[in-house]
Amino acid sequence: MGNVVRRILIVGNWKMNKTASEAAVFIREIAPRLPAAPAIDIVVAPPFTALESVRAALGPSSSIQLGAQNVFWESHGAYTGEISAPMLSDLGCRYVIIGHSERRTLFGEQDEGIRKKIRAALAHDLKPILCIGESLSQRERGQTDDVLRQQLKGGLADLSLQAMAAITIAYEPVWAIGTGKAATTEQAIAAHRTIRTFLSDTWSAEIANATRILYGGSVTPQNIDALLQSDQIDGALIGGACLQVESFARITTFAESIGACG
Ligand code: 13P
Repeated sequence: MGNVVRRILIVGNWKMNKTASEAAVFIREIAPRLPAAPAIDIVVAPPFTALESVRAALGPSSSIQLGAQNVFWESHGAYTGEISAPMLSDLGCRYVIIGHSERRTLFGEQDEGIRKKIRAALAHDLKPILCIGESLSQRERGQTDDVLRQQLKGGLADLSLQAMAAITIAYEPVWAIGTGKAATTEQAIAAHRTIRTFLSDTWSAEIANATRILYGGSVTPQNIDALLQSDQIDGALIGGACLQVESFARITTFAESIGACG
């Protein structure tokens, strides 16, 4: 495969944390700690209710981009409690996390709905971050690669080459999420290789080479460096460690130092 340099992407997934007021305080504290013209992409994904206050706190010229944690596939109508892609775009969102394992396991999300969400996001200029990853029992049964391929196929089936250019994949092994037990760099690299081979076989070597694949699951300021040393790991999707100013600032600073030499 050729030698495209993929820009590092660091995404903070706040999950169900921080009120709109707390979010504004957090952004005002962290913004000055982040590089003004970063060599990497930095995204924060607060709850829906804090998107507007985060946008306001960032201001119009911030280099930090806004993401959402979920989206519904219809654009408007009688879908009580749902939020659509045009609503997110209009609020300034650029990215949306789709198919997170918590959505899959706690809220019953399945491939077909995930696929529809990805298409809706793409239709409204949102870049989907598709989350995939095996459970501990699947890993122990040797099914990791099959699960990853199945989830990729389920979420991305029939997307055009052009659509694929907007996709980011996040490899998040379920057993590593919120457990303090991150995958080793070797485990992450192996999974990322499986993903890249699938992209190459299904679309093209160019797509495989250009698509960013993030690692997620207990990423901290202590392990981000080792993870990003690999050219297979194009960034991180961060839960717990993105909620404190100090740890998110450290992670982005490490990533920036690697991105700036890349
Ligand atoms: P933690 O970083 O808390 O393990 O969460 C990872 C995650 O699920 C990010 O989407």
